[in-house]
Amino acid sequence: MMKRETSLPHNFLWGGAVAANQVEGAYNEDGKGWAITDVVKRVKPEDRRKMAFPFPTSEEVKSFMEMDDEHFPKRYGIDFYHRYKEDIALFKELGFKALRVSIAWTRIYPNGDDAEPNEAGLKFYDNLFDELLKNDIEPIVTLSHYEMPLNLSLEYGGWTNRKLVDLFAQYAETVMTRYKDKVKYWITFNEINCILMSPYISAGILRDQVAEEDLLEAQYQAAHHQFLASAKAVEACHRLIPDGQIGCMVIGMINYPNSPHPEDVLETLYDQRKTFFFTDVQVRGHYPMYMQRFFEEHGIEIKKQPEDDQILQNNLVDFISFSYYMSSVSARPGAGGESAAGNLLTSLKNPYLEASDWGWQIDPVGLRLIMNMFYERYEKPLFIVENGLGAFDKVEDDGRIHDDYRIEYLRQHLTQMKEAVADGVELLGYTAWGPIDLISFSTSEMSKRYGFIYVDQDDDGNGTLERSRKDSFYWYQKVIATNGEEL
Ligand code: BG6
Repeated sequence: MMKRETSLPHNFLWGGAVAANQVEGAYNEDGKGWAITDVVKRVKPEDRRKMAFPFPTSEEVKSFMEMDDEHFPKRYGIDFYHRYKEDIALFKELGFKALRVSIAWTRIYPNGDDAEPNEAGLKFYDNLFDELLKNDIEPIVTLSHYEMPLNLSLEYGGWTNRKLVDLFAQYAETVMTRYKDKVKYWITFNEINCILMSPYISAGILRDQVAEEDLLEAQYQAAHHQFLASAKAVEACHRLIPDGQIGCMVIGMINYPNSPHPEDVLETLYDQRKTFFFTDVQVRGHYPMYMQRFFEEHGIEIKKQPEDDQILQNNLVDFISFSYYMSSVSARPGAGGESAAGNLLTSLKNPYLEASDWGWQIDPVGLRLIMNMFYERYEKPLFIVENGLGAFDKVEDDGRIHDDYRIEYLRQHLTQMKEAVADGVELLGYTAWGPIDLISFSTSEMSKRYGFIYVDQDDDGNGTLERSRKDSFYWYQKVIATNGEEL
């Protein structure tokens, strides 16, 4: 029997996580093609708690391509594309052992279906990974972080089209071949279960491409294609990078029943499956039995090829990575109360929890719970690849930023993370979301800040882009230096 660890392993991967579309900017430089995120508008301040995910039509998207960049902050990000060396120096100062980044698919294959990759894009990531390695920071690379080529939406109908499986496999093969000596940790699709909430962001489906009554089936069909694409990336990783590891990635949502009413508990089970279905397929290699009934009852028929089951079964992920920001409350139909906002999943309000300025319910114990649930179910290593507090920061007259609320949020979550490890959970690492302020994914605001490093830029894109250290910078630096002993 393996011995239970009571403290974090010495090679624990401490660090931070960002996504290309939220930091890089330079959306049309060096041959990069249009990504679906380049046409997502900033949400108005009065709508910031609504969590309304864009679901545009093809015509809308085309008209957005003609509009000025100022409405689309992800086009300019925080200029990481040109400033990554300066930012990596700060990560090094923080003591990072790892940085999670994503590769923008559109820098490598600008349209997704190009015959040849774009050398300038490949070169950029060569430079980025070299810079990280030079600073002893392990790159953790996500292949697809909500930023697929827009052309694959407009011309193919997004992930509803099976052709995307091979196009993605080609992209994965290209980058793994190129970076096999530099990148050992890979992640396939960011928050793959988000496809149930956001057909456009996760799967590139446009509103005019699917009739409303067929949408649920299209979402599950798209998920099936992503499972296959993910399995092909797993196959490529294991073949090309013998010492590499590749994981799936989900929103690590923990669902609580609104009451002990058995029907509320049943609803909670159903909601919990919106996470577990996605890990079940990628960790166990087959569709769980409970989905057969769900598909039958919802009139969903997944189109599969004879070889699909084998592809899934033969290519299991090595670890389970997940984001964790909040928990959620489920109630039986018709019995709900006031709802709360959240990252992609809406929930009922939990009277025992406080919420962030964006309405996300803060629940450190939920992190311990979901870690235990994943580990008991699969007994595979976990990796927390996103966690953090999006908050408004105030710059004092002396330029300092006293973000004790962020320190408190992280301290409480790390305490629970350590509890889970003491419970027996195997954990590879922890990468805090947005270690440097970046463009919010859901609202495209700059003022929703997660960073230990402040970036001087406002919601309209004005500012010097100068970087500075917040109080949390020094706190996290100590956490890493003591391997989590001093929180
Ligand atoms: C996760 C995404 O859902 O949450 C990130 O993977 C995102 O891309 C993060 O930034 C926080 O969400 P937001 O909307 O506050 O940026």
